[in-house]
Amino acid sequence: RTGARVERLPLARFTTLGVGGEAEVWFVSTLEQLREAVEAPYRVLGGGSNLVVSDGGVPERVLRLTGQLAEADLTPDPELSTSDTVVTGWVGGGVPLPGLIRKLQKLGLSNLEGTVGIPAQVGGAVWMNAGTRYGEMFDGLHTLEIVTPGSVRHLTPDDLNWGYRQSDLPRGHVVSRVRLKLRHSTSEAVLAKMDFADLARKGQPKMKTPGCAFKNPGGVSAGKLIDEAGLKGARVGGAMIAPEHANFIVNLGGASSADVHALLGLIRERVGVPMELEYELWP
Ligand code: FAD
Ligand code: EPU
Repeated sequence: RTGARVERLPLARFTTLGVGGEAEVWFVSTLEQLREAVEAPYRVLGGGSNLVVSDGGVPERVLRLTGQLAEADLTPDPELSTSDTVVTGWVGGGVPLPGLIRKLQKLGLSNLEGTVGIPAQVGGAVWMNAGTRYGEMFDGLHTLEIVTPGSVRHLTPDDLNWGYRQSDLPRGHVVSRVRLKLRHSTSEAVLAKMDFADLARKGQPKMKTPGCAFKNPGGVSAGKLIDEAGLKGARVGGAMIAPEHANFIVNLGGASSADVHALLGLIRERVGVPMELEYELWP
């Protein structure tokens, strides 16, 4: 066997909400370890920035990409790059997105700066095509390496019916690595775009949170709808609908998964418009 490190750990430690019971965490650091890890029921953990994990944890093994699968080779591929386009080497699904965005900015490479401020890992951000009004992950993808039980495949964005907050990849298809497709720009110009995109975050809460709870229905801000329903500041136990932005639920300290579920139920009950959940609930 190829030997991933396995440890039983509280998932609260791996989620930005800071909630979640124990599971068997598999730290997979090579493609071989990943192929072995998907041979029994599993879930993939990225940056844990979109997850509400139950206090009882999950029964499946939880895969965390590290080592080789958290390295970024940004060297331009001489065969695929042109005078204005750079296709990089492989970037692991476990690479933290914020650090990658900063590196690309320093290199003066454009296409992904609109995702500034998203505290995800590359794999999780690709899996749900994370983004903002100023850009999304699929703006900068060339190839996706996808691992499922018994297979490793390479896809291009054209193979997928991706869109707002969706890659079209079924749950459990692991984004092990990607190659990025970027445009030459200057570090100053990329930084200016990042700063501009960042302004939209001024009104977002700074506390423990898994980001926006609901997707925007038909382009209308879900936060505005929840706000208009009078729910800002509503509290259940240790969880609260953020007074700064109503589509964020924050952990005031000691929140349980049940507290968060209760607030999600309250929002559904009070907001007349049907809204699709953006959070992922485990299990
Ligand atoms: P996780 O939360 O760990 O997992 C989410 C899903 O992705 C799960 O289904 C998981 O199995 C899957 N997944 C994780 N890694 C992989 C992988 N390697 N292969 C396949 N599937 C995988 N989102 C936005 O889109 N725009 C924003 O502006 C934004 N702002 C945010 C601000 C804050 C402060 C926070 C906390 C969150 C924000 N989010 C935002 C939400 C979140 O960052 C995104 O949903 C992000 O895509 C989640 O990625 P992750 O790596 O943390 O995945
Ligand atoms: N608004 C309110 N009350 C609120 C929240 C918002 O009136 O409580 C109003 C704002 O005043 C503004 C409008 O609604 O006029 C839009 O608000 P905002 O600019 O915050 O954008 P959003 O549509 O609510 C989206 C994304 C965020 C992303 C920001 C910035 C979704 C679900 N949300 O929020 O993404 O960071 O734009 O680009 O698409 C996430 O997906 O997790 C996330 C945080």
